[in-house]
Amino acid sequence: MILGIGVDVVHVARIRHWLAIPGLPERFFSEEELGAVRDRGGAIALSLAARFAAKEAFGKAIGTGLAGITLKEIEVANNHNGKPDIRLSGSAARKLGELGGRKVHVSLTHERDNAIAMVVIED
Ligand SMILES: CC(C)(COP(=O)(O)OP(=O)(O)OC[C@H]1O[C@@H](n2cnc3c(N)ncnc32)[C@H](O)[C@@H]1OP(=O)(O)O)[C@@H](O)C(=O)NCCC(=O)NCCS
Repeated sequence: MILGIGVDVVHVARIRHWLAIPGLPERFFSEEELGAVRDRGGAIALSLAARFAAKEAFGKAIGTGLAGITLKEIEVANNHNGKPDIRLSGSAARKLGELGGRKVHVSLTHERDNAIAMVVIED
């Protein structure tokens, strides 16, 4: 059964701005997330914008927003086919448990200026 859905859009310029501020990306993205996009050249901001959208979409899908959740504990990683998967730990995993969620699906898209993510939570 579907317990929640969430969608979010992020302006890529906002993330590009963050990337220029030392230490800021590390506040929002895990080492693995930053490492996975490091060699994407001009697409780094696009990919991180989509990953940030996924974090906010997760907050909507659980229905409480991101209050009390450490953003780095909502991680997006691509599988061998390139499909993104959400990995939750710590505060994010706890919130999912409180809702009774067991499976989380994510889909990402981005173009020049905007990135969008959609999250579905199943029991
Ligand atoms: C839920 C949350 C993620 C929404 O983020 P947002 O980007 O400000 O909101 P958006 O403009 O994308 O979406 C707004 C819509 O979200 C929906 N929404 C609001 N609270 C929600 C909730 N608790 N659950 C699900 N959806 C919610 C509403 O429908 C709202 O539109 P409406 O007021 O017209 O009905 C936000 O409450 C939150 O937790 N923000 C934290 C952001 C953060 O930590 N940023 C750190 C870097 S600055």
